[in-house]
Amino acid sequence: MQQNPSEKEQLMIKFFDLQAITAMHADEYKAAIARVIVSGWFLQGHANQQFEANYAKYIDTNHCVAVANGLDALYLLLRGYKEMGVMQDGDEIIVPANTYIATIIAITRNNLVPVLVEPTWEHLEIDVDKIEAAITPKTKGVMIVHLYGRIAYNDKVGDICKKRGLKLLEDCAQCHGCAWQGTKTGALGDAAAHSFYPGKNLGAFGDAGAVTTDDKELASVIRALANYGSQQKYAFKYIGINSRMAETDAAVLDVKLKYLDEDNRKRQKLAAYYYEHIQNSLITLPKRLDDENNVYHQFPIFCEYRDDLQEYLKAKGIKTLIHYPIPPHQQACYQEWNHLSYPITEKIHAQELSIPMNQVIPVEVAEKVVTALNSFIH
Ligand SMILES: Cc1ncc(COP(=O)(O)O)c(C=O)c1O
Repeated sequence: MQQNPSEKEQLMIKFFDLQAITAMHADEYKAAIARVIVSGWFLQGHANQQFEANYAKYIDTNHCVAVANGLDALYLLLRGYKEMGVMQDGDEIIVPANTYIATIIAITRNNLVPVLVEPTWEHLEIDVDKIEAAITPKTKGVMIVHLYGRIAYNDKVGDICKKRGLKLLEDCAQCHGCAWQGTKTGALGDAAAHSFYPGKNLGAFGDAGAVTTDDKELASVIRALANYGSQQKYAFKYIGINSRMAETDAAVLDVKLKYLDEDNRKRQKLAAYYYEHIQNSLITLPKRLDDENNVYHQFPIFCEYRDDLQEYLKAKGIKTLIHYPIPPHQQACYQEWNHLSYPITEKIHAQELSIPMNQVIPVEVAEKVVTALNSFIH
């Protein structure tokens, strides 16, 4: 009997099963949301305060400011430094060339200039050895991005920023729970932006984000900027934006935070299985890191015949995604950079394929993914 498309879809191995992930603690989420409903207080209330306190404690920073999404967190972090006079229009921020577009948009929307630096092919994160050469008198900060859940920090980047008087900033959209020698990402530099988009390791039931920092003044400026620029009701110090986290999301995130480390351990276990069993000369795996340094937001693999591999896996019922098909410097919205060449970035974008990775993938599914990958020929 012929299957209709929806039956066929159901037989596919999902790339990301948010239904199953949510079902794991559904009763706790329902209770948390019910408490918000009963409170009748939906913004800037108890749930936000509680989540901010718990997340700051988890990351180990003095401050956490909850905002509406990760892009706003990045934007407000830089805007905060501008309002404090630390950065001004035309100043440069060093950033990896292979990041998600939000990192770049946050910089250009602040009239700052992103200076794109290549990653290494082996590690996929910014090439720390290329940072110093990119520094000019206008450089004010280095924004590292812990892409795919992999640590982008090492002592060298910390030392360069200290020595050259640059702000070390972190894009922590993909690395909740990752750490460097015991210090969590989000506390490694001067300030960090976090996204709680539903698909993240720590994801809300809608858009949400936060900034973590030890800088009291920065936290207070960002809090005002996210609330129309107001520090005092109906008095506006800055021309701000409206970027607030819903109380329901804060309540859900507070529940999820309790399970984050356990969820990450499940991801690390699945990654270990992939590293031990994927064996195909046409497929390259990224350098394996210690578990402390990788929370496997994605499990990227690389193949010269990526598009054929993706089709092959699809035919075997395995869904995959590409992170990301077009690098920032080749995007239509940044035409002024389209002529530039970043060979390692371009190779990553041409060959990357993310295979199923999350905390609810059973071993039988992992086996199917591995068998399919190992049988791919070209
Ligand atoms: C590296 C990176 N930075 C920033 C963001 C932006 O976060 P949000 O989608 O919450 O605005 C994302 C989200 O996809 C991301 O992956």
